[in-house]
Amino acid sequence: LYAEQIRAAVDAHTIDVLTVPAGENYKTRESWASLTDQMLVRGFGRDSAVIALGGGVVGDLAGFVASTYMRGIPVVQIPTTLLAMIDASIGGKTGIDTPAGKNLVGTFHYPAGVIVELQVLDTLPLRERRAGLAEAIKHGVIADEAYLFAVADSLTEMLATDGEISDRMLSLIVRSIEIKAEVVSRDEREEGLRQILNFGHTIGHAVELLSGYSLHHGEAVAIGMALESRLAEHIGVAQKGTAPKVAEVLRLAGLPTELPPGSGVDAILEAMRSDKKVRTGTIRVSLPARIGAMAGAKSGWTVSVSDDQLREALA
Ligand SMILES: NC(=O)c1ccc[n+]([C@@H]2O[C@H](COP(=O)([O-])OP(=O)(O)OC[C@H]3O[C@@H](n4cnc5c(N)ncnc54)[C@H](O)[C@@H]3O)[C@@H](O)[C@H]2O)c1
Ligand SMILES: [Zn+2]
Repeated sequence: LYAEQIRAAVDAHTIDVLTVPAGENYKTRESWASLTDQMLVRGFGRDSAVIALGGGVVGDLAGFVASTYMRGIPVVQIPTTLLAMIDASIGGKTGIDTPAGKNLVGTFHYPAGVIVELQVLDTLPLRERRAGLAEAIKHGVIADEAYLFAVADSLTEMLATDGEISDRMLSLIVRSIEIKAEVVSRDEREEGLRQILNFGHTIGHAVELLSGYSLHHGEAVAIGMALESRLAEHIGVAQKGTAPKVAEVLRLAGLPTELPPGSGVDAILEAMRSDKKVRTGTIRVSLPARIGAMAGAKSGWTVSVSDDQLREALA
């Protein structure tokens, strides 16, 4: 949709457009190999750069290509989904999925720049806007209660597809970027604090994988946040009332809050075990203490949970 505009803005002779089919199913080693081979055949050298133009899938994949191509060339992220603008394009994580799980192979490769052009949201379907809001809601829960309620109050504007970019929408997007950037800049390699960005993602990634990616990332994370908040309340980590508040905002945004019918609890637990946050068999989850603050400051910002506790939350 937007490659020609980039081509027109850059010297047209120096830019080649490589594409991949849309969707999480193409965030694979095969896509990485194909893109890398095409670049090699076309003679791109170490003086090249990758422009990742697309949603989070393209950002993660193209970032991974850039980070491994001739031991690393720069990447410029130009995110075109709400989710990629406020979350995926920031923080240097690149990667691909494997049959065992999401993002299990990847690198940290910080972008040379991130360019957010809100007009590209004009063509973004409603379902993708909702999915993006899931990460904005996450930012509110993990770091800023007032922001969560500001998002909840602006859902009509954020989801409107009339092409209007209001000042309010701009300021919400900027605040989300600030929250992500602040957490990431305090812990670039995920040694501690950055774990809080994984809220909703331990259960979410498992649900996303098991859906065969028919659930979009943001939708799976919404389910993950609802269930992980419930878990946090059940085991006494979160203040009473946290889980219903999280679920309410998600529902208002039109996001799912329950497991898809027929989900097997055992299969979800199994998928969670291959998640990166599992150390020596115990599942560790980033959980809220209340809206706007996460638990586990003294234990690396994750909380160890037993299978029984997880089963109860998933049931
Ligand atoms: N690296 C990180 O820190 C990080 C953080 C969050 C999510 N992610 C990853 O991001 C991915 C999800 O990203 P996503 O939600 O952007 O999904 P996506 O990249 O699959 O994009 C969603 C859909 O929207 C289409 N699209 C993109 N921009 C459009 C536009 N402007 N107009 C019309 N259609 C458009 C895409 O072709 C695709 O079909 C997941 O793989 C997730 O793991 C990474
Ligand atoms: Zn995410």
